[in-house]
Formats: sequence, C-alpha cells, structure tokens
Amino acid sequence: MKIGIACDHGAVEYKTEIIAMLVEQGHEVIDCGCDGKESVDYPDYGYKCAKLVQSGEVEKGIVMCGTGIGIGISANKVKGIRCGLCFDTTMARLTREHNDANMLAVGQRTTGIEVVKDIVNTFLTTPFSNGERHIKRI
Ligand code: RB5
Repeated sequence: MKIGIACDHGAVEYKTEIIAMLVEQGHEVIDCGCDGKESVDYPDYGYKCAKLVQSGEVEKGIVMCGTGIGIGISANKVKGIRCGLCFDTTMARLTREHNDANMLAVGQRTTGIEVVKDIVNTFLTTPFSNGERHIKRI
C-alpha cells in the first residue's frame, strides 16, 4: 500500500520507527517530515500529508505529534479527510469499520511504541464495514 506519514517535532522518533516497520512490511511510504527536534508547526505537516490522501496519491495517511490531537485536527480540516485519533487497537479497528477513516493520528507522549505499532497494523488491515448506517453518516 502507498502510505503518507507526517509528524511534528514531538513525534520524530515514532515516525522513524513506524516508517521502518512499514517499509519492512513492503509498503511504499511518502515521508512528509518533519525531520528534526527543532520546533515546528504541526498544521504544516498534517496538511501536507492530508493533501496526499485527498489527491489519491496515497491510500492512507498517518500523522503524529505529542498527543496526536493537533496534527489530527489539522488533517481533518482538509475536505475528504476522516482522521481518527487512536489510543488503542479497538479504536483503530472501529475508526476503520465505522468511520472509514483514511487517516490515523497517534501521540508519542501518550501511547507506547508497541501499542502504536499494533494500532497502525490494525488501522491498515481493517476494512470499512460498508454498513448502510455508516455510509449515511460519513
Ligand atoms: C508541540 O509542542 C505539541 O503541542 C504537539 O506535539 C501536539 O501535542 C499538539 O497537539
């Protein structure tokens, strides 16, 4: 799968780890930055990744910041984006099944890396349930 990924300075370590995992799994990853610890503004990176999803250049987007909140809000301002902030694999499964989320937000300060890896894997492998009530809502 082709996947976009972005973070702010608060989640560079997780971005590096998740990219390595995704590449190892055979995914193609477009890295939207940022790349260092210098303070940046998360909307710049959330927007960049969301535009890749909106245009169809990538199938899914993953964004990260300290909490996942700021960069997730930024992504959700782009038309057509449904970005779900997830703390566990149940949320990851349900945001795919019920919301047909095309982007995932996670936080480096709030969620352990092993949990984030499981969240990412659940998010990428769970299909939308396609139920009539969910289609109507999204
Ligand atoms: C950056 O200081 C921090 O505000 C950001 O990473 C994130 O937690 C915002 O939602």
